[in-house]
Amino acid sequence: MKGIILAGGAGSRLYPASLPISKILLPVYDKPMAYYPITTLMLAGIKDILIISNPHDLGNFQRVLGDGSSLGIKFSYAVQTETRGIADSFLIAEDFIQNSPVALILGDNIFHGFGFSSMLKAVGAKTKGATVFGYQVNDPQRFGVVEFDKNNKAVSIEEKPQNPKSNYAVTGLYFYDDRVVEYAKTLKPSARGELEITDLNNIYLSHGALDVEILGRGFAWLDTGTFESLLQASNFVQSMEINTGMKIACIEEVAYRMGYIDAGQLARLSEKYKNNGYGAYIRKIVEQTSFAGV
Ligand code: G1P
Repeated sequence: MKGIILAGGAGSRLYPASLPISKILLPVYDKPMAYYPITTLMLAGIKDILIISNPHDLGNFQRVLGDGSSLGIKFSYAVQTETRGIADSFLIAEDFIQNSPVALILGDNIFHGFGFSSMLKAVGAKTKGATVFGYQVNDPQRFGVVEFDKNNKAVSIEEKPQNPKSNYAVTGLYFYDDRVVEYAKTLKPSARGELEITDLNNIYLSHGALDVEILGRGFAWLDTGTFESLLQASNFVQSMEINTGMKIACIEEVAYRMGYIDAGQLARLSEKYKNNGYGAYIRKIVEQTSFAGV
């Protein structure tokens, strides 16, 4: 399975904060926002990741993330010159995908919750059909919304409906099988001029090939689209990290726990962060590892 992070767009809703650099590279507490979607893909077992950025920010992504080899994974990069919709990712990424199953995550989507890793592992191992994740929200009009029948089976998805048929939003994490490029090529721009991910999901639904996994209460799907929600996301991460002593989306830790790098490589990665708690956290993992003899 391959992975795509869509980090295009101008991020103008966060101007002037995101004027100097892509919104996806702004910090959410102690790390760039991009670390959150990257670790989500890594937890699904994905090691080959394409980052789609606007031309202006591409160099910044490359500078921050490199080629991924120090994490035992592979990052490659592609440019989206204008915002043509989420499903445009599959046209941009056609050569990268090469008939493989693929997961797409929006660069500003932060997920955190108990059991998420095992859910991702199971979905990442699927090779047929598509999977999306439904999450109960207060303001479904802002999202793609799933309609369920009386047996809780998804029957339709509507993009930003005025009269939503449920409170379940489709989150920005999508898994597709090898039909995705072929289906994406049949999409026509919507009224807002975009190739809608909801239209793509409805194609899978019409073939009886769309699973909707529900992320239950207690699960966090965080928004970072406004000044307030970006700060709230930082506060959420800070409070979870301080309370548990564990980091959310520490890219180095995930690479190690997924077996992509060994303890020696993890120790070397901590050297970049000699003077702060982030580096100390990584060093603690290395020490625990040596102590446990694993
Ligand atoms: C997009 C999708 C929508 C989905 C949302 C998740 O909305 O079109 O279906 O629910 O992402 O964040 P947009 O960012 O285009 O408003």
